[in-house]
Amino acid sequence: MAGRIPQAFLDEIVARADIVEIIGARVPLKKSGREFKANCPFHNEKSPSFWVSPEKQFYHCFGCGAHGTVIGFLMQYEKMDFIDAVADLAQRAGLELPKEAQGPRDAGSVDLHDVTAKAARFFEQNLADNPRARAYLETRGIDAKTRANFALGYAPDSWDALLTRFGTQDDERRRLFQVGLIIERDTRGGERAAGFYDRFRDRLMFPIRDSRGRVIAFGGRVIDKGEPKYLNSPETPLFHKGRELYGLYEARQAHTDFKRLMIVEGYMDVVRLHQAGITYAVATLGTATTQEHLNKIFRITSELVFCFDGDRAGRQAAWRALDNALPLARDGRELKFLFLPEGHDPDTLVALEGREAFEARLKSALPLSEYLVQQLKLDLDLDSVDGRAKLKALAAPLFARMPDGIYRELLADRLAAEIRMPAVKLKEYLFAGDPKRPAPAPAEPGTPRRSRNSAGRGNLLSQAITLVLHHPAAARSVTDIEALGSVDRPGVSVLKELLEQAAGMAQPSTGMLLERWRERAEYARLTELAMSDPMVADAVGTAKELQMAVQKLLEEYGPGRRTDDLLRKAEELGLNYDEKAELTLLLKAKGRPRAPS
Ligand code: UTP
Ligand code: MN
Repeated sequence: MAGRIPQAFLDEIVARADIVEIIGARVPLKKSGREFKANCPFHNEKSPSFWVSPEKQFYHCFGCGAHGTVIGFLMQYEKMDFIDAVADLAQRAGLELPKEAQGPRDAGSVDLHDVTAKAARFFEQNLADNPRARAYLETRGIDAKTRANFALGYAPDSWDALLTRFGTQDDERRRLFQVGLIIERDTRGGERAAGFYDRFRDRLMFPIRDSRGRVIAFGGRVIDKGEPKYLNSPETPLFHKGRELYGLYEARQAHTDFKRLMIVEGYMDVVRLHQAGITYAVATLGTATTQEHLNKIFRITSELVFCFDGDRAGRQAAWRALDNALPLARDGRELKFLFLPEGHDPDTLVALEGREAFEARLKSALPLSEYLVQQLKLDLDLDSVDGRAKLKALAAPLFARMPDGIYRELLADRLAAEIRMPAVKLKEYLFAGDPKRPAPAPAEPGTPRRSRNSAGRGNLLSQAITLVLHHPAAARSVTDIEALGSVDRPGVSVLKELLEQAAGMAQPSTGMLLERWRERAEYARLTELAMSDPMVADAVGTAKELQMAVQKLLEEYGPGRRTDDLLRKAEELGLNYDEKAELTLLLKAKGRPRAPS
């Protein structure tokens, strides 16, 4: 989505927007040194821990962890989606939104959205006309209002109902195909004429809508029995499963204020829960919850409940969800797990017991920490040496996936208490070899972190990344950015890219740099670093430290270092085939022609 807006335009927007003005118009800000502070608009507090830095074009709350750029603020505060926030800022700056970002975002998708909209209306009409499909919905307890609200439909029992209705022209057929509504015949057998047929036949249809209410895909359920029970649109230019949440548009329509969102497993669950008044229910579309889903959710609310059926599949799905959610677990976010009684899903349960009883269950939902500790303990005999070793094996990778910070520390403390082990000792276990350690000391509430001696903090790489993030202008004075390409260490490519981006910006700021990473996996980690102690306060000092850090990285891990390692290994243990080839290449690059045999 962000990819559609030219990067230069995004930079321009962030550069031109005055974050103090935009936030100040909504939250009363008070000047404090070079920054501004206020009571945080995202959580309840009595003394201010919400800081806005005009220099960095970035805001951050030390209380609840909310943070971001001016774009992020509009998304979080005004609940705008990304494009709308950009459009708002563009208008304010007197800039014309580029074509790519206007309206349906690109010319081709206008037609495609048109096709899905027409198909949705066609299915709706067919449902109205088909007594058998309507009767089925009735047996599922879905009333007419809910049916209309979700625009439920019916795909006729025919190989070409949609095709003959909307696909008589070549270009119409091409578009139906592009949105996944028709399938190309397999003509290898040579029996049937080449052509297409309808993907959805004799199915109850659930249109999937994007955040602006446009139909982008469908799910279809068999009416009686058949396989598969649910059929989904394939990935198309309009539809990426890993990003969309069924019911989110409808939830937004019903709510202005999200206290929480709840993820359930199925289409029917969402529809039935909304009908019962639980309009904060959404579902992933036959996939596990992705980080993209979670990021989307945490832009809207800080409380998320995963709701799982009480069977084995449900419990497995829960552990997977926990694993995916860990990188996003932090202070100020509530992640909970709700397990329904065996044999029930949200649909059957809410039909049985009603909204109030269902919502009462939310009180017994397990916080992520509780669930994690419970699951870890399940497998362990902690009185044995073996049990503790096992704990290390089980817990360490989980902790490694979490951003460092207060939340992770507290969770480790909690686990330590639970298994009756000194916290220090357990943390040694859990964080051993973890490049994120030592974690930054938690800030005093209400005090922005200030420059401190940089010696011994973090590892070299995250130090360097932190420096670029805090003073992106310093990137220009780094001379060996290119050479970093030869360092084979995870994360160095991130540093290199950050340096290149910052060096290429006319007026770089922390916020502008972070915007480049919004949709990438590293975004969360980078924002953490952007908020951590800056270590060096001024730009000149940063430039020096940065140059030194890059130099050290090159010395320690650059090609020279690898050559030495390989030479030593050749002497002591001998090299395998690949290593010999690598060494030959390295030596050649240095003008030494032959590897020892
Ligand atoms: P379930 O099999 O739990 O069905 O699938 P359900 O939601 O309870 O459906 P009803 O109540 O029988 O109508 C949960 C979700 O998994 C995906 C769908 O998104 C479904 O809503 N799924 C399931 C598929 O994508 N394909 C299938 O064949 C089955
Ligand atoms: Mn069900």
